[in-house]
Amino acid sequence: MLSLFDPIALGDLQLANRIVMAPLTRSRAGTGDAPTALNAQYYAQRASAGLIVAEGSQPSPDGKGYCRTPGIYTEEQVAGWKLVTDAVHAAGGRIVLQIMHCGRISSHLNKDEGARTLAPSAIRARGQIYTDVAGMVDFDEPEALTTEEVRTVIDEYRAAAATAIRAGFDGVELHAASGYLPMQFLSTGTNQRDDIYGGSPANRCRFVIEVLEAMAAEIGAGRVGMRICPGNPLHDIQDDNPVETYETLLRAASPLGLAYLHLIRLKSLPFDPLALCRQNFAGPLILNESLDAAQAQQHIDAGDAEACSFGRFYISNPDLVERFRAGADVAPFDRHTLYTPGAGGYTDYPALMPQPA
Ligand SMILES: Cc1cc2nc3c(=O)[nH]c(=O)nc-3n(C[C@H](O)[C@H](O)[C@H](O)COP(=O)(O)O)c2cc1C
Repeated sequence: MLSLFDPIALGDLQLANRIVMAPLTRSRAGTGDAPTALNAQYYAQRASAGLIVAEGSQPSPDGKGYCRTPGIYTEEQVAGWKLVTDAVHAAGGRIVLQIMHCGRISSHLNKDEGARTLAPSAIRARGQIYTDVAGMVDFDEPEALTTEEVRTVIDEYRAAAATAIRAGFDGVELHAASGYLPMQFLSTGTNQRDDIYGGSPANRCRFVIEVLEAMAAEIGAGRVGMRICPGNPLHDIQDDNPVETYETLLRAASPLGLAYLHLIRLKSLPFDPLALCRQNFAGPLILNESLDAAQAQQHIDAGDAEACSFGRFYISNPDLVERFRAGADVAPFDRHTLYTPGAGGYTDYPALMPQPA
């Protein structure tokens, strides 16, 4: 019988166990949106995970949505990330970087001066976003990308993948969930384009497929993963037929030979996203669905997933693998310090057993 604690290969990524740290935005990048020694300490504390998926990081100034999120496009950012990847590798871990372009889920108040808010179509999302300078504000009205600009954004993802490898990452994960730019292309409500990137399901999937192809050409498909959340209405997303959209996407992505598919599985949908993934995607699957250790083990036993990821547990349990192994309790986290700068609520959650400093 396979265990959560058994090793697994996901493409070119060799994991010591099947417990994955899910990507968690913590808004603690330093100046120039570059990671710091504090971020390195945080990730190194969590290095016993079979794989860390580091927080969503913008491939360009335009891709930024939230406050103090890290980037992966300047030399300062490369140097900051190198602190992180070196510390995780020294602690025996594996780490990939999630590449996140927020598209229309953004405020210019969170971006560098001159950076643009871009989307498949010029449709503003309903809702608000936090900014350090003005508190909660409406999302920006986005500019619709021209066909030529779509190709420029794809090149930003390509460059981000190469830069991530240069910064010492073991691979990258495309954030195609949660209503950000890739999902804005996939969904009928946000994509009303009449060029080759809009209209039919194949056209709406073209952006994501071309991004994956570009990243795979740059660093090898075995180092590229993709995260999706079919049927999620988060950030004002609406799709007329998500089953058709994701069948099309997964059938096109499957032959690329990606390292893994990372599914956030929502329950209570009219379809089962896990079955949809298993039927249409041939590669390894990391399952995320607010699991505990026992539920994760059941999914491994059932062959539903090759690995399982955990988000919120990793905020307050740096040694989650050891806690699961010991059957120990998990510690609760403080929601007030999720996105606040500094060490408080970030690197000060203790491990059960003393760790080397
Ligand atoms: C504080 C916080 C930040 C998050 N940031 C990201 C992110 O950057 N990228 C992403 O794909 N998901 C992000 N998520 C979603 C988590 O990766 C995960 O899917 C979610 O928390 C559900 O898993 P869980 O029940 O194990 O926490 C975030 C969640 C939380 C709570």
